[in-house]
Amino acid sequence: MSAILLIHGPNLNRLGARDNKHYGERSLSDIEAGVRESAKKLGYDIKTFQSNHEGALIDFLQKEAPKASGIIINPGALTHYSYALHDALVDSRLPCVEVHLSDIGSREPWRRNSVTAPACISQISGKKESGYLEAVEILHKHLVK
Ligand code: DQA
Repeated sequence: MSAILLIHGPNLNRLGARDNKHYGERSLSDIEAGVRESAKKLGYDIKTFQSNHEGALIDFLQKEAPKASGIIINPGALTHYSYALHDALVDSRLPCVEVHLSDIGSREPWRRNSVTAPACISQISGKKESGYLEAVEILHKHLVK
């Protein structure tokens, strides 16, 4: 079964305890379980990783991308400034979908720009956890083309 990497950046380990208005009520493990279930129906294994550290995310990408078919990533605040993560996504040569639980376009001005999105085939923002399920569909359509 081919694998999709499901990657979460800083503070997303605290989903459920963070501001529900922006991030919804579900925990990270609930979200991961939902993604795993819908990906399985389309024939994909999900390999999950969360870290509060930029370098750990990049190490994971470098190690796991060669064995995977695609990436779904919510980089958290790294979205807005991590050129290193952008480069690691490009170097992976994998199709990547960026997901944000909140609508980053309607919050503080500094959240509006994503430096990682240009490394992705698509960005989904503001659809809470359903954004991840849409990301699985987008990746699948891209991979079966
Ligand atoms: C987030 C949006 C980011 O701006 C923020 O720093 C996060 C979560 C989202 O899922 O809406 O930690 O990526």
